[in-house]
Amino acid sequence: MTRTRKRVTVPEFRARKGAGDPLVMVTAYDTVSANVCEEAGVDAMLVGDSLGNVLLGYEDTLPVTMDEMLHHARAVGRARTHALLIGDMPWMSYQLEPLEAARNAARFVREARCDAIKLEGGMVRVPAIRAILDAGIPVMGHLGLTPQSVLAMGGYKVQGRAEEDAWRLIQDAKAIAEAGVFGMVIEGLPGELARRLTAEVDVPTIGIGAGHACDGQVLVYHDLLGMSPGKSPKFVRRYAEIREQQIEAVRRFAGDVRERVFPGDEETYN
Ligand code: KIV
Repeated sequence: MTRTRKRVTVPEFRARKGAGDPLVMVTAYDTVSANVCEEAGVDAMLVGDSLGNVLLGYEDTLPVTMDEMLHHARAVGRARTHALLIGDMPWMSYQLEPLEAARNAARFVREARCDAIKLEGGMVRVPAIRAILDAGIPVMGHLGLTPQSVLAMGGYKVQGRAEEDAWRLIQDAKAIAEAGVFGMVIEGLPGELARRLTAEVDVPTIGIGAGHACDGQVLVYHDLLGMSPGKSPKFVRRYAEIREQQIEAVRRFAGDVRERVFPGDEETYN
């Protein structure tokens, strides 16, 4: 399919529900990776709070602050040309008060020129979602394995395996869809539940570890490029092994310096 290179808008993103042309979203944290994603023609870039564990060395996403998110959202925003730009609300930036949620969401728009924000949670988030929408800011939901609830979940575990949990997740999905989200990430769900949930809501579902029946897929840039150390989770496909190449390149540089073959004449100013 030939893709037009117009900037993707929220209504266009939403209209791709069930269109048979899956949405492609990548989590990016800086100008370099955002530039690559734009060149590759992704539909949306998410400045995810996975920033915390992928890039900043935190154990999980809980320590990530608004200021850290905005710093990276601005960097991605500077490289954005066509993709929809979504800023991820960090933990405790939207949980306490709907007005505070709207105020923080507005910072993503005003300071980083994001098109939308994403937040985690179901029914319980409806007041915050409404307040943010009232301010004119589109909201993407996030259900299933919600990393900001890692303590409550007791780890990163596939959600909705029991029928009762699956039913609750579908109710959550319907509630946030009714509240007006334009799409939702569904993470860490059995493929069959993701298929059911996708059929129940009229907005696109973007899966990560949720099988192929979603309306789109998202992966973290560093994961899909094979930049993250250690074994990847089951749901990640590594499209490159950049970490290996990086280690080898730095090792060669170190060897050349130690053997005094770098810099050579060609890298030296006369
Ligand atoms: O923070 C993040 O990168 C995310 C995606 C994995 C959906 O929330």
